[in-house]
Amino acid sequence: MWLPEYRLALAVWTALAPVAFVVLMLGVQAPNYGRFFSNQPREWFAPRSDVAWLIMESPNLVGAVMCLYWCAARAENTHGRPVRAESYVLVALFVVHYVNRALIYPLRMKNGQKRTSGFVTCISCVFCCCNSFFVLSGILKYDAARVPAASSVPFCGGLALWCIGFLGNIHADHVLRTLRQHANDAAYRIPYGGMYRFVSCPNYLFEIIEWSGFALAAWRVQAAWAFALWTTANLLPRAHRVHQWYMSEFDSAYAALNRRACVPFIF
Ligand SMILES: NC(=O)c1ccc[n+]([C@@H]2O[C@H](COP(=O)([O-])OP(=O)(O)OC[C@H]3O[C@@H](n4cnc5c(N)ncnc54)[C@H](OP(=O)(O)O)[C@@H]3O)[C@@H](O)[C@H]2O)c1
Repeated sequence: MWLPEYRLALAVWTALAPVAFVVLMLGVQAPNYGRFFSNQPREWFAPRSDVAWLIMESPNLVGAVMCLYWCAARAENTHGRPVRAESYVLVALFVVHYVNRALIYPLRMKNGQKRTSGFVTCISCVFCCCNSFFVLSGILKYDAARVPAASSVPFCGGLALWCIGFLGNIHADHVLRTLRQHANDAAYRIPYGGMYRFVSCPNYLFEIIEWSGFALAAWRVQAAWAFALWTTANLLPRAHRVHQWYMSEFDSAYAALNRRACVPFIF
């Protein structure tokens, strides 16, 4: 893809994120996963949740391998300059996140081998293909010259924010996992501790922080900001729905905890 085509496709991709946010906030009842998935009417393709996560998220790892192979072959971006170490650091952050999300997270899931909508699996897989293409090719090729120097404030600050988001997300997912006794336990309980004191979905909050930090570190790479925007557009409406679900499932016991959905004291 040539640079003008990349810019146009990325502009359309970025513009779709707020549209997705509005559609999801309006509560469109699309097929779903986790607590919101019931396979009625039956979908012909509804993989086990752990397999679904692998299918959905592995394009990010495949994309990273392909881009790094391309770099090894060319070792220069579209401007004919060598790819800098800062770009590789950003790719490493991306890979670390997706090694966890695509491989480790599904292996450790406890949900009684629950199934996930085939529609959601396919659409998320397509999303990850597009997103990994835009982000990785932006960092390594089209916008490689825009990645700031390692000593710059945005790069260091973004890296620190990414670390906070990554570790916080892992911790919040860990708290949920420990609510279940064994692999076939599919019951839902109230999570406590950490940021669960303040919000129902700290895993989503930290995921948003993580990709915002990534965008900050990439600074003028538009695809990284588009990814942070998409993550927010996707997770804020889901956090709202999960919060409503806790309120109706656990009733006054949950209301007394005085939590917000995703952003402490605000949302
Ligand atoms: N970047 C993005 O756009 C994006 C999009 C989606 C997800 N993610 C990330 O992927 C991870 C998982 O997302 P998710 O939407 O599946 O999160 P989730 O709905 O909170 O579920 C996470 C896991 O914890 C279990 N669980 C949730 N609440 C529970 C409770 N109250 N008691 C016992 N177990 C509970 C779920 O079981 P069940 O499967 O049985 O519900 C599931 O196995 C998160 O870290 C999220 O940030 C990122």
